[in-house]
Amino acid sequence: MEKKREWMLPVVLLTLIQASVAVEIQPSANPAAAGDNLTLSLSPPVSLTAGSWAVGSSLILTWVGDQVADFATHRGRASVNVVSGALTLSSITVADSGVYVMQSSNPTLKANTSITVFEPILNVRLEVNQTNLTELNSLLVMKCSVSSGSSPSFLWLNGSSEVRGSDRVQLTDGNSTLNIVNVTRYDHGPFTCVASNPVSNGSSSPQSFNIVYGPDHMALTVNGSLFVGSNLTVLCSAQSNPPAQFEWAFRGESVNQTGPLLELYNVTEDQSGPYSCVGFNNHTNRNNSVTSHITITSAGSTQPTVNTWLVSLLLLVRFLLSLPGVF
Ligand SMILES: *[C@@H]1O[C@H](CO)[C@@H](O)[C@H](O)[C@H]1NC(C)=O
Ligand SMILES: *[C@@H]1O[C@H](CO)[C@@H](O)[C@H](O)[C@H]1NC(C)=O
Ligand SMILES: *[C@@H]1O[C@H](CO)[C@@H](O)[C@H](O)[C@H]1NC(C)=O
Ligand SMILES: *[C@@H]1O[C@H](CO)[C@@H](O)[C@H](O)[C@H]1NC(C)=O
Ligand SMILES: *[C@@H]1O[C@H](CO)[C@@H](O)[C@H](O)[C@H]1NC(C)=O
Ligand SMILES: *[C@@H]1O[C@H](CO)[C@@H](O)[C@H](O)[C@H]1NC(C)=O
Ligand SMILES: *[C@@H]1O[C@H](CO)[C@@H](O)[C@H](O)[C@H]1NC(C)=O
Ligand SMILES: *[C@@H]1O[C@H](CO)[C@@H](O)[C@H](O)[C@H]1NC(C)=O
Ligand SMILES: *[C@@H]1O[C@H](CO)[C@@H](O)[C@H](O)[C@H]1NC(C)=O
Ligand SMILES: *[C@@H]1O[C@H](CO)[C@@H](O)[C@H](O)[C@H]1NC(C)=O
Ligand SMILES: *[C@@H]1O[C@H](CO)[C@@H](O)[C@H](O)[C@H]1NC(C)=O
Ligand SMILES: *[C@@H]1O[C@H](CO)[C@@H](O)[C@H](O)[C@H]1NC(C)=O
Repeated sequence: MEKKREWMLPVVLLTLIQASVAVEIQPSANPAAAGDNLTLSLSPPVSLTAGSWAVGSSLILTWVGDQVADFATHRGRASVNVVSGALTLSSITVADSGVYVMQSSNPTLKANTSITVFEPILNVRLEVNQTNLTELNSLLVMKCSVSSGSSPSFLWLNGSSEVRGSDRVQLTDGNSTLNIVNVTRYDHGPFTCVASNPVSNGSSSPQSFNIVYGPDHMALTVNGSLFVGSNLTVLCSAQSNPPAQFEWAFRGESVNQTGPLLELYNVTEDQSGPYSCVGFNNHTNRNNSVTSHITITSAGSTQPTVNTWLVSLLLLVRFLLSLPGVF
């Protein structure tokens, strides 16, 4: 009697250990992409003689030895390794998301895992209604969409940096729409929309804008020495898109020279006075001007000076009247 009990103890222990074999299901991917093949393996590896797989409350297949019975819902696309118990589902769809349960009677074990299947992102498209915009006067709207892909999230790139929301920059409709209020000359892009979900991502082709502005930030640069007999060039610059057209005036009188460069040869003291450059942008239909006072001195006299004056109203009116197509 005593002896029999002694050898039975290890058997009981072994049975207890077997009953509580702890296995986990290891999916080949989770979240998984629709269209892929999904394999659910057991870890640590076990050796089984019978078992079943179910998703939710619906049975996928059962097996005893090497006899496998699969159920109509998964016929032809579910297979099992009858020794390791690994289940393979081919060409999974979003509908295959759920809790997968594996059960075995020999040895006794049960495990489950929750699988989520996402449709991969395809064809990220960026839609805009206009690409020619006027600075501070236009609302820029871009809409991003995907032809397929479950629960896409969107982010926007301006060049290579991510667009952040602000008073001026609004991200709406779950970030799929980008609105820029009072667009500025610096908002030319290129902008790219990136759509992603846990299994994939994709980018739109880049979109740039032509933003017309100016002229503004005008400046005059004088090159050459300010002495009688020397040659001078006066360069007019402006920020403008498209580039500004320039006209020149001296003491309010139009000078027969156009273009950004005014050339003065063999200058005399009489040529001292206010020089003005007027810039005109034929897309914004705006003009702007800058005036510098240039003083020519005879050689050997004191340091020459260049003063900036405000252009007279007369000069502006005169210039505007001289422009074709204005008024
Ligand atoms: C899925 O498995 C089938 C057959 O085993 C194979 O032909 C197919 O290429 C696999 N698909 C993917 C996406 O791996
Ligand atoms: C999955 O397993 C956990 C712990 O093992 C258990 O609490 C849970 O009820 C199981 N879920 C299903 C659906 O079997
Ligand atoms: C473009 O214009 C159409 C019709 O006016 C409008 O329905 C659409 O939302 C606009 N798209 C964008 C990106 O502004
Ligand atoms: C946008 O501007 C460019 C150049 O200024 C011009 O060629 C094009 O026709 C304009 N497009 C539209 C839709 O106005
Ligand atoms: C856009 O410009 C208008 C007029 O200049 C101004 O009233 C408005 O506050 C500006 N909006 C933003 C968001 O800067
Ligand atoms: C939109 O983008 C911002 C970051 O710019 C992020 O914090 C937010 O969660 C996003 N919202 C959605 C609905 O994806
Ligand atoms: C885009 O980037 C430029 C700088 O490269 C910045 O000045 C401008 O404000 C940005 N625009 C938006 C809408 O993020
Ligand atoms: C997009 O997917 C690629 C791999 O396909 C990955 O390397 C990259 O980090 C992903 N980017 C984002 C923003 O999710
Ligand atoms: C001014 O320009 C003229 C013609 O280009 C040249 O002949 C002359 O030498 C120049 N004078 C000076 C002082 O550079
Ligand atoms: C301006 O110069 C051009 C050629 O340089 C000449 O044909 C034209 O008559 C000049 N106009 C005036 C008003 O001097
Ligand atoms: C420069 O002007 C002066 C006086 O106006 C004249 O005497 C001289 O010949 C001119 N020089 C040249 C190179 O044209
Ligand atoms: C604007 O000026 C440019 C030259 O700077 C010219 O090529 C273009 O035809 C002009 N456009 C209009 C609409 O006047």
